[in-house]
Amino acid sequence: MDKFVIDGARPLAGEVHCSGSKNSALPILAAALLCDGESVISGVPRLRDVDSLLAILRELGMSAERRADGDILLKVEDLEPVTARYELVSTMRASFCVLGPLVGRRRRARVSLPGGCVIGVRPVDLHIRGLRALGAEVRVENGYVVAEAPRLRGAKIFLSGQFGPTVTGTANILMAAVLADGRTIIENAACEPEVQDLGNFLAAAGARIAGIGTHRLVIDGVKSLRGVTWRVIPDRIEAGTFLLAGAITRGAVTVRDCEPDHLSALLAALTEIGVPTEVGADFIRTGPADGFRPYHLTTLPYPGFPTDLQAQMMALLALADGICAVTERIYPDRFMHVAELNRMGADIRKEGANALIHGVEHLSGAPVMASDLRASAALVNAALAARGRTEIGRVYHIDRGYEKIVEKLLGLGAAIERVDDKKLVGATADSEG
Ligand code: EPU
Repeated sequence: MDKFVIDGARPLAGEVHCSGSKNSALPILAAALLCDGESVISGVPRLRDVDSLLAILRELGMSAERRADGDILLKVEDLEPVTARYELVSTMRASFCVLGPLVGRRRRARVSLPGGCVIGVRPVDLHIRGLRALGAEVRVENGYVVAEAPRLRGAKIFLSGQFGPTVTGTANILMAAVLADGRTIIENAACEPEVQDLGNFLAAAGARIAGIGTHRLVIDGVKSLRGVTWRVIPDRIEAGTFLLAGAITRGAVTVRDCEPDHLSALLAALTEIGVPTEVGADFIRTGPADGFRPYHLTTLPYPGFPTDLQAQMMALLALADGICAVTERIYPDRFMHVAELNRMGADIRKEGANALIHGVEHLSGAPVMASDLRASAALVNAALAARGRTEIGRVYHIDRGYEKIVEKLLGLGAAIERVDDKKLVGATADSEG
């Protein structure tokens, strides 16, 4: 099993390319289940999660291959299979996104429940409620969601729970509704850029969707969708992670090929904290900060501050000149990184869905353990800023969401090495993302 060894306290400098969005690519690949003919998807990052989903799509009767140029070709060859197995779905939560397209196109689906993960319980009740509203019969049987719908009929659906809208829930219901009879209205739909990208992909394939990018999606069902050529949007969370890596090391990092409009909440926070930023049409640059002013952070649905950057921002706030508060409004238990950051000298106390940070002057390298994708990214950023050497175990978590992270950080001047540590034990394929 690999670990990262990082010698910190070196300001990062230079330019880094932003990869395509993982959380955009996954539902779009699943949406190809709805299309007649071939779809060609570009910009899909080379990640383990993508390979896991392609394996599921192949079992669902699709040809799915990555060309030498990186594009992924997808075509439905067999409409019969409807089962997404536990062994595959449990490795990655986002594979639950095949549920909507299967019900929409094949009128039947048997998809393993993804289960919880370290960032929280993560129920799928809203996905099920939405499908039922469209007329599907849905039951949970032997750990599988079984949905049957000889006909799907458009309906008005309020798709929101105690933590607000659901991203993959909106994706699933949208994908089920595009081929349903009549009009579906999804109220309080998620409007994250990744949901917009999916909506735009479906529209290019022939779906009739109004309100993309708002909390109200109006979908008029069509008879069929065609295959399309599509490029997924840049990964705003990867971009944000590198910008925060630049900021925490008091370096000057430019993230190229990103979409600055998708990062407004982060840019506003960096400005408040005192990190200079410069924004172009497709790049963002951070400059060295003199210090980090205290900041109170609350994660919110888009366009609020993303939960997927909370851990990385907390690493930075650990070095603030004063006291900061972090409130997690999406996943109240997403604080696995707190204990590990404290091992590196941070002073963070967690109380319920809040964390209170007393800024310290510096972090120091320590052996730490990655627990989930974004927590690992926070530890990498903390290690880049910390004095001395940090060893991060279980980096398979980070491989799920960051394409070529070691190469990219080396390009920015980081002292990072991936080493095989056979002594580490206890790795399991945890479901998150
Ligand atoms: N929720 C329910 N019931 C449901 C669905 C969600 O109560 O049926 C709750 C969740 O427990 C959570 C909130 O609603 O408290 C929002 O969850 P959401 O459904 O929006 O999350 P998701 O779709 O499962 C996606 C991303 C996550 C990201 C969240 C929030 C993908 C593949 N995953 O998850 O990404 O944190 O939206 O923005 O798009 C990551 O990339 O590290 C990651 C975890």
